[in-house]
Amino acid sequence: MTAGQTHRVLVAIPMFESVLARLQAVFDLDAPCAADRHIDWTPQTLAERLQGCAGLLLAATPRVDAALLDACPELRAVCSMAVGYNNIDLDACTARGVLVTNAPDVLTETTADFGFALMMATARRISEAEHYLRAGRWTHWSYDFFAGADVHGTTLGVLGMGRIGQAIARRAALGFGMPVIYHNRSRLDPAVEQQLGARWVSKDDLLRQADHLVIVVPYSPASHHMVAAAELALMKPGATLTNIARGGVVDDAALAAALRQRTIAAAGLDVFEGEPAVHPELLGLPNVVLTPHIASASGPTRRAMADLAATNLIAALGLGPTPGRPLTPLNPQVLAAAGD
Ligand code: GLV
Repeated sequence: MTAGQTHRVLVAIPMFESVLARLQAVFDLDAPCAADRHIDWTPQTLAERLQGCAGLLLAATPRVDAALLDACPELRAVCSMAVGYNNIDLDACTARGVLVTNAPDVLTETTADFGFALMMATARRISEAEHYLRAGRWTHWSYDFFAGADVHGTTLGVLGMGRIGQAIARRAALGFGMPVIYHNRSRLDPAVEQQLGARWVSKDDLLRQADHLVIVVPYSPASHHMVAAAELALMKPGATLTNIARGGVVDDAALAAALRQRTIAAAGLDVFEGEPAVHPELLGLPNVVLTPHIASASGPTRRAMADLAATNLIAALGLGPTPGRPLTPLNPQVLAAAGD
């Protein structure tokens, strides 16, 4: 990509005006969603709109796969303001020399705050109690009125001990005196384990021992339905499950059955298989807290994510203060090959 050339780029998601202004200053910008208009892209409408574009800015949607890349041969950079990138076929991008970036780090603490809050709301039945109050049903007090599970001093299980998992573990250990167990493909450095007070266990032991299980593992074919009926059956009857990772890591139909049969106590879900659709049975259950994929949604963090994605796009297309050097590339080998 040569500096000085005006590249056409598509911003396929609603975007901050200030970020659009940054991009407009250096690109021929197509931003059909404006500040808040969502477009439900089909593969065909996205491919049509991307014709002639060198760059694409997106988030956890829309999908970028081999067929789209083949239909848009001028595309050079796909920059996401999300940290999870299972909507992007990274291998297909790499094979075609398309650079991909995501937005790690800037959302870690905010997402951990939310994961912890969702776990607490789930354990302490906060949504259920609020619905009861709003429905005008609060007429008396009883000793077991919305009695839930304790959080402090109980065992936290973290499935997926990356940056966000570690930030949740820190909150649990330091703030709530919780023993932390975790399962991850690779074990943490012993010094980090010690600092977090976290102990690696097998996946089955994690499921058997956790009082509160928080799922933060990235989605991939290997993590599809990593928690399904057999795994749920291992959990304690009083345990809770919180999923802030991706829909598809948990089998939502199996989870709904477990919640209905009370083989686990409750769940907190920010992500769903097939979202924005939600498994209909989950919608009818009292013992599940449901939120619309908002774990990273604090004002400052969403701005930082969008700014990082824009900085990456500008650099990826050879412009800005660090031309050719985006901050958080997922396939840096594409950059190395371009420099050969
Ligand atoms: C949100 O889910 C993200 O991956 O950033």
